[in-house]
Amino acid sequence: MTSTRIIIDTDPGVDDALTILLALASPEIELEALTTTQGNVTIENATRNALSVLELAGAANIPVARGSSLPLVQPLRASGLVHGITGLGRSNLPEPKNKPLAPHAIDFLIERFLAEPGELSLFAIGPLTNLALAIRKEPRFAKSVRELVIMGGAIREGGNVTPLAEFNIYVDPHAAHIVFHSGIPIILIPLDVTHKCILNQAHIDRLARIESPISRFIADAVADYLKISLEWGQAGCALHDPLTLATIIAPDLLTLRECAVDVDISTGVSMGKTFADFTNRAGISANMKVAMEVRGGEFIDLFLQRMENLSRAVV
Ligand code: RIB
Ligand code: CA
Repeated sequence: MTSTRIIIDTDPGVDDALTILLALASPEIELEALTTTQGNVTIENATRNALSVLELAGAANIPVARGSSLPLVQPLRASGLVHGITGLGRSNLPEPKNKPLAPHAIDFLIERFLAEPGELSLFAIGPLTNLALAIRKEPRFAKSVRELVIMGGAIREGGNVTPLAEFNIYVDPHAAHIVFHSGIPIILIPLDVTHKCILNQAHIDRLARIESPISRFIADAVADYLKISLEWGQAGCALHDPLTLATIIAPDLLTLRECAVDVDISTGVSMGKTFADFTNRAGISANMKVAMEVRGGEFIDLFLQRMENLSRAVV
Protein backbone atom coordinates (compact mmCIF):
# COMPACT_ATOMS: atom_id res chain seq x y z
CA MET A 1 0.00 0.00 0.00
CA THR A 2 1.40 3.42 -0.86
CA SER A 3 0.74 5.81 2.01
CA THR A 4 -0.50 9.37 1.53
CA ARG A 5 2.08 11.97 2.53
CA ILE A 6 0.50 14.72 4.64
CA ILE A 7 1.28 17.83 6.65
CA ILE A 8 -1.20 18.88 9.35
CA ASP A 9 -1.77 22.55 10.25
CA THR A 10 -3.12 22.46 13.77
CA ASP A 11 -4.11 24.35 16.95
CA PRO A 12 -3.79 21.54 19.56
CA GLY A 13 -6.37 21.36 21.13
CA VAL A 14 -7.73 18.06 22.38
CA ASP A 15 -9.26 16.79 19.14
CA ASP A 16 -6.21 18.02 17.26
CA ALA A 17 -4.05 15.83 19.52
CA LEU A 18 -6.30 12.84 18.79
CA THR A 19 -5.85 13.56 15.07
CA ILE A 20 -2.07 13.51 15.39
CA LEU A 21 -2.29 10.16 17.22
CA LEU A 22 -4.70 8.76 14.61
CA ALA A 23 -2.36 9.82 11.78
CA LEU A 24 0.54 8.09 13.54
CA ALA A 25 -1.57 4.96 14.06
CA SER A 26 -2.65 4.73 10.41
CA PRO A 27 -0.41 2.91 7.91
CA GLU A 28 -2.29 4.64 5.08
CA ILE A 29 -0.74 7.94 6.21
CA GLU A 30 2.81 9.27 6.20
CA LEU A 31 2.75 12.26 8.61
CA GLU A 32 5.65 14.41 7.43
CA ALA A 33 5.32 17.52 9.64
CA LEU A 34 3.06 19.67 11.79
CA THR A 35 2.61 23.44 11.49
CA THR A 36 0.97 25.25 14.36
CA THR A 37 -1.47 28.14 14.59
CA GLN A 38 -3.31 30.06 17.24
CA GLY A 39 -6.92 29.00 17.72
CA ASN A 40 -7.97 26.80 20.62
CA VAL A 41 -4.92 28.10 22.45
CA THR A 42 -2.11 30.60 21.99
CA ILE A 43 0.65 29.83 19.49
CA GLU A 44 3.02 29.11 22.39
CA ASN A 45 0.74 26.43 23.84
CA ALA A 46 -0.20 25.06 20.41
CA THR A 47 3.46 24.60 19.51
CA ARG A 48 4.42 23.09 22.84
CA ASN A 49 1.44 20.71 22.67
CA ALA A 50 2.29 19.61 19.13
CA LEU A 51 5.85 18.76 20.19
CA SER A 52 4.68 17.01 23.37
CA VAL A 53 2.10 14.81 21.65
CA LEU A 54 4.62 13.70 19.03
CA GLU A 55 7.10 12.79 21.79
CA LEU A 56 4.37 10.95 23.73
CA ALA A 57 3.76 8.75 20.69
CA GLY A 58 7.45 8.15 20.00
CA ALA A 59 7.39 10.37 16.89
CA ALA A 60 9.82 13.08 17.99
CA ASN A 61 11.48 12.79 14.58
CA ILE A 62 8.53 14.58 12.96
CA PRO A 63 9.29 18.32 12.66
CA VAL A 64 7.06 21.10 13.95
CA ALA A 65 7.07 24.63 12.51
CA ARG A 66 5.56 27.40 14.61
CA GLY A 67 3.00 29.63 12.87
CA SER A 68 0.70 32.60 13.24
CA SER A 69 0.03 34.09 16.65
CA LEU A 70 -2.94 36.22 15.52
CA PRO A 71 -5.75 36.00 12.93
CA LEU A 72 -5.48 38.28 9.86
CA VAL A 73 -8.02 40.85 11.08
CA GLN A 74 -9.99 39.46 14.03
CA PRO A 75 -8.65 39.56 17.62
CA LEU A 76 -7.18 36.42 19.26
CA ARG A 77 -9.98 34.24 20.64
CA ALA A 78 -7.96 31.49 22.34
CA SER A 79 -9.60 30.52 25.61
CA GLY A 80 -9.45 27.60 28.02
CA LEU A 81 -13.21 26.96 27.76
CA VAL A 82 -13.24 23.62 25.93
CA HIS A 83 -9.64 22.47 25.73
CA GLY A 84 -8.37 23.70 29.11
CA ILE A 85 -5.71 26.31 29.91
CA THR A 86 -2.87 24.24 28.45
CA GLY A 87 -5.02 23.11 25.52
CA LEU A 88 -4.81 19.39 26.35
CA GLY A 89 -7.43 19.14 29.07
CA ARG A 90 -6.35 17.51 32.31
CA SER A 91 -3.36 15.77 30.74
CA ASN A 92 0.04 16.68 32.06
CA LEU A 93 2.62 15.83 29.42
CA PRO A 94 6.25 16.67 30.21
CA GLU A 95 7.77 19.75 28.58
CA PRO A 96 8.92 18.69 25.11
CA LYS A 97 12.64 18.03 24.60
CA ASN A 98 12.48 19.19 20.97
CA LYS A 99 12.15 22.77 19.74
CA PRO A 100 10.20 23.96 16.69
CA LEU A 101 12.07 24.45 13.41
CA ALA A 102 13.66 27.84 12.80
CA PRO A 103 11.53 28.83 9.77
CA HIS A 104 8.05 30.27 10.36
CA ALA A 105 5.28 27.82 9.43
CA ILE A 106 4.34 29.93 6.41
CA ASP A 107 7.86 29.72 4.96
CA PHE A 108 8.10 26.04 5.89
CA LEU A 109 4.84 25.25 4.04
CA ILE A 110 5.93 27.24 0.96
CA GLU A 111 9.35 25.55 0.89
CA ARG A 112 7.98 22.01 1.36
CA PHE A 113 5.12 22.23 -1.13
CA LEU A 114 7.15 24.00 -3.85
CA ALA A 115 9.91 21.41 -3.44
CA GLU A 116 7.50 18.60 -4.41
CA PRO A 117 4.52 20.08 -6.27
CA GLY A 118 1.46 17.82 -6.27
CA GLU A 119 3.01 15.24 -3.93
CA LEU A 120 1.86 16.39 -0.49
CA SER A 121 -1.65 16.76 0.97
CA LEU A 122 -2.42 19.40 3.59
CA PHE A 123 -4.85 18.92 6.50
CA ALA A 124 -6.07 22.13 8.17
CA ILE A 125 -7.68 21.48 11.55
CA GLY A 126 -7.49 24.95 13.08
CA PRO A 127 -8.04 28.53 11.85
CA LEU A 128 -6.68 29.00 8.31
CA THR A 129 -4.32 31.92 8.97
CA ASN A 130 -1.07 30.13 8.00
CA LEU A 131 -2.55 28.83 4.75
CA ALA A 132 -3.95 32.22 3.73
CA LEU A 133 -0.59 33.90 4.30
CA ALA A 134 1.26 31.18 2.34
CA ILE A 135 -1.19 31.64 -0.56
CA ARG A 136 -0.67 35.39 -0.53
CA LYS A 137 3.11 35.29 -0.05
CA GLU A 138 3.85 32.72 -2.77
CA PRO A 139 1.54 32.73 -5.85
CA ARG A 140 2.79 29.23 -6.79
CA PHE A 141 1.79 27.71 -3.42
CA ALA A 142 -1.88 26.98 -4.22
CA LYS A 143 -1.03 24.97 -7.33
CA SER A 144 1.58 22.89 -5.48
CA VAL A 145 -0.88 21.43 -2.94
CA ARG A 146 -2.13 18.00 -4.00
CA GLU A 147 -5.31 18.28 -1.88
CA LEU A 148 -6.43 20.35 1.11
CA VAL A 149 -8.77 18.81 3.69
CA ILE A 150 -10.30 21.36 6.08
CA MET A 151 -12.12 20.73 9.33
CA GLY A 152 -14.37 23.76 9.41
CA GLY A 153 -17.67 25.35 8.63
CA ALA A 154 -21.32 24.53 9.21
CA ILE A 155 -23.50 24.15 6.11
CA ARG A 156 -26.99 23.06 7.19
CA GLU A 157 -25.91 22.64 10.84
CA GLY A 158 -25.90 25.53 13.30
CA GLY A 159 -22.64 26.98 14.52
CA ASN A 160 -20.65 26.03 17.62
CA VAL A 161 -19.18 29.42 18.47
CA THR A 162 -22.06 31.63 17.29
CA PRO A 163 -25.50 30.37 16.27
CA LEU A 164 -24.26 30.38 12.66
CA ALA A 165 -20.47 29.98 12.60
CA GLU A 166 -18.07 27.14 13.33
CA PHE A 167 -15.00 27.93 15.45
CA ASN A 168 -12.09 27.47 12.98
CA ILE A 169 -13.75 29.63 10.33
CA TYR A 170 -15.09 32.18 12.84
CA VAL A 171 -11.67 32.80 14.41
CA ASP A 172 -10.28 33.88 11.02
CA PRO A 173 -13.04 34.29 8.40
CA HIS A 174 -10.80 36.43 6.18
CA ALA A 175 -8.23 33.65 5.98
CA ALA A 176 -11.00 31.17 5.15
CA HIS A 177 -12.19 33.45 2.35
CA ILE A 178 -8.69 33.54 0.82
CA VAL A 179 -8.33 29.74 1.09
CA PHE A 180 -11.82 28.96 -0.24
CA HIS A 181 -11.13 31.05 -3.38
CA SER A 182 -7.51 29.92 -3.88
CA GLY A 183 -8.20 27.18 -6.45
CA ILE A 184 -6.65 24.50 -4.22
CA PRO A 185 -8.61 21.19 -4.46
CA ILE A 186 -10.54 21.29 -1.15
CA ILE A 187 -12.55 18.76 0.83
CA LEU A 188 -14.51 20.45 3.63
CA ILE A 189 -15.41 18.45 6.76
CA PRO A 190 -18.07 20.64 8.48
CA LEU A 191 -20.04 20.30 11.70
CA ASP A 192 -22.79 18.64 9.63
CA VAL A 193 -20.73 15.43 9.78
CA THR A 194 -18.42 15.91 12.76
CA HIS A 195 -21.45 16.19 15.06
CA LYS A 196 -22.24 12.60 14.05
CA CYS A 197 -18.87 11.30 15.29
CA ILE A 198 -19.33 11.28 19.05
CA LEU A 199 -16.91 9.81 21.60
CA ASN A 200 -18.50 8.89 24.93
CA GLN A 201 -17.38 7.60 28.34
CA ALA A 202 -17.95 3.95 27.36
CA HIS A 203 -15.44 4.43 24.54
CA ILE A 204 -12.90 5.93 26.96
CA ASP A 205 -13.47 3.02 29.35
CA ARG A 206 -12.84 0.59 26.45
CA LEU A 207 -9.48 2.22 25.73
CA ALA A 208 -8.58 2.23 29.44
CA ARG A 209 -8.55 -1.57 29.43
CA ILE A 210 -5.15 -1.25 27.78
CA GLU A 211 -2.65 0.20 30.26
CA SER A 212 -0.57 2.64 28.20
CA PRO A 213 0.62 6.27 28.23
CA ILE A 214 -1.56 6.72 25.11
CA SER A 215 -4.81 5.46 26.65
CA ARG A 216 -4.07 7.42 29.84
CA PHE A 217 -3.39 10.60 27.85
CA ILE A 218 -6.63 10.24 25.87
CA ALA A 219 -8.68 9.76 29.05
CA ASP A 220 -7.06 12.78 30.73
CA ALA A 221 -7.19 15.01 27.66
CA VAL A 222 -10.83 14.23 26.83
CA ALA A 223 -12.26 14.35 30.37
CA ASP A 224 -13.28 18.03 30.54
CA TYR A 225 -14.13 18.19 26.80
CA LEU A 226 -16.51 15.28 27.41
CA LYS A 227 -17.91 16.88 30.59
CA ILE A 228 -18.71 20.24 28.96
CA SER A 229 -20.15 18.49 25.87
CA LEU A 230 -22.55 16.53 28.10
CA GLU A 231 -23.45 19.74 29.96
CA TRP A 232 -24.31 21.26 26.56
CA GLY A 233 -26.75 18.40 25.98
CA GLN A 234 -24.62 16.37 23.56
CA ALA A 235 -24.21 12.58 23.86
CA GLY A 236 -20.44 12.96 24.08
CA CYS A 237 -17.59 14.95 22.52
CA ALA A 238 -17.36 15.34 18.77
CA LEU A 239 -14.21 14.11 17.02
CA HIS A 240 -14.15 17.10 14.68
CA ASP A 241 -10.51 17.05 13.60
CA PRO A 242 -9.91 13.26 13.51
CA LEU A 243 -12.75 12.88 10.99
CA THR A 244 -10.65 14.72 8.37
CA LEU A 245 -8.39 11.63 8.20
CA ALA A 246 -11.35 9.49 7.11
CA THR A 247 -10.75 11.00 3.65
CA ILE A 248 -7.67 8.72 3.55
CA ILE A 249 -8.30 5.83 5.97
CA ALA A 250 -12.03 5.26 5.35
CA PRO A 251 -13.32 7.38 2.45
CA ASP A 252 -16.37 5.14 1.99
CA LEU A 253 -17.74 6.41 5.33
CA LEU A 254 -18.15 9.92 3.87
CA THR A 255 -20.61 11.22 1.27
CA LEU A 256 -19.16 14.23 -0.54
CA ARG A 257 -21.05 16.80 -2.63
CA GLU A 258 -19.29 19.11 -5.06
CA CYS A 259 -20.57 22.69 -4.86
CA ALA A 260 -19.76 26.37 -4.50
CA VAL A 261 -19.10 27.31 -0.86
CA ASP A 262 -18.41 30.78 0.48
CA VAL A 263 -17.91 32.43 3.87
CA ASP A 264 -19.42 35.63 5.26
CA ILE A 265 -16.67 38.14 6.10
CA SER A 266 -19.04 40.95 7.06
CA THR A 267 -18.86 42.05 10.69
CA GLY A 268 -22.52 41.34 11.44
CA VAL A 269 -24.21 38.46 13.26
CA SER A 270 -23.40 35.99 10.45
CA MET A 271 -19.64 36.64 10.36
CA GLY A 272 -17.85 33.33 9.69
CA LYS A 273 -21.02 31.60 8.42
CA THR A 274 -20.24 29.16 5.60
CA PHE A 275 -22.91 28.54 2.99
CA ALA A 276 -23.16 26.11 0.05
CA ASP A 277 -25.00 26.61 -3.24
CA PHE A 278 -26.14 23.01 -3.82
CA THR A 279 -28.62 24.01 -6.54
CA ASN A 280 -26.10 26.24 -8.35
CA ARG A 281 -28.64 29.07 -8.11
CA ALA A 282 -25.87 31.69 -8.19
CA GLY A 283 -24.21 30.11 -11.26
CA ILE A 284 -20.84 30.09 -9.47
CA SER A 285 -18.60 27.10 -10.30
CA ALA A 286 -17.94 24.60 -7.52
CA ASN A 287 -14.81 25.32 -5.45
CA MET A 288 -14.83 22.29 -3.16
CA LYS A 289 -16.32 18.96 -2.15
CA VAL A 290 -18.29 19.05 1.10
CA ALA A 291 -18.91 16.02 3.35
CA MET A 292 -22.63 16.11 4.10
CA GLU A 293 -23.14 12.53 5.33
CA VAL A 294 -21.00 10.14 7.40
CA ARG A 295 -21.35 6.72 8.98
CA GLY A 296 -20.24 8.17 12.31
CA GLY A 297 -20.52 5.05 14.44
CA GLU A 298 -18.22 3.15 12.09
CA PHE A 299 -15.70 5.99 12.17
CA ILE A 300 -15.67 6.01 15.98
CA ASP A 301 -15.06 2.26 15.98
CA LEU A 302 -12.18 2.63 13.52
CA PHE A 303 -10.75 5.42 15.69
CA LEU A 304 -10.93 3.23 18.79
CA GLN A 305 -9.31 0.25 17.03
CA ARG A 306 -6.43 2.46 15.89
CA MET A 307 -6.02 3.96 19.39
CA GLU A 308 -6.01 0.45 20.90
CA ASN A 309 -3.26 -0.55 18.46
CA LEU A 310 -1.25 2.56 19.30
CA SER A 311 -1.77 2.00 23.03
CA ARG A 312 -0.38 -1.52 22.71
CA ALA A 313 2.61 -0.22 20.73
CA VAL A 314 3.53 2.65 23.08
CA VAL A 315 4.20 1.33 26.59
O1 RIB B 1 -15.18 23.55 15.56
C1 RIB B 1 -14.27 22.52 15.83
C2 RIB B 1 -12.87 22.97 15.59
O2 RIB B 1 -12.55 24.03 16.48
C3 RIB B 1 -11.82 21.88 15.87
O3 RIB B 1 -10.73 22.07 15.02
C4 RIB B 1 -11.43 22.15 17.29
O4 RIB B 1 -10.08 21.72 17.56
C5 RIB B 1 -11.51 23.64 17.35
O5 RIB B 1 -10.29 24.14 16.84
CA1 CA C 1 -8.49 22.13 15.91
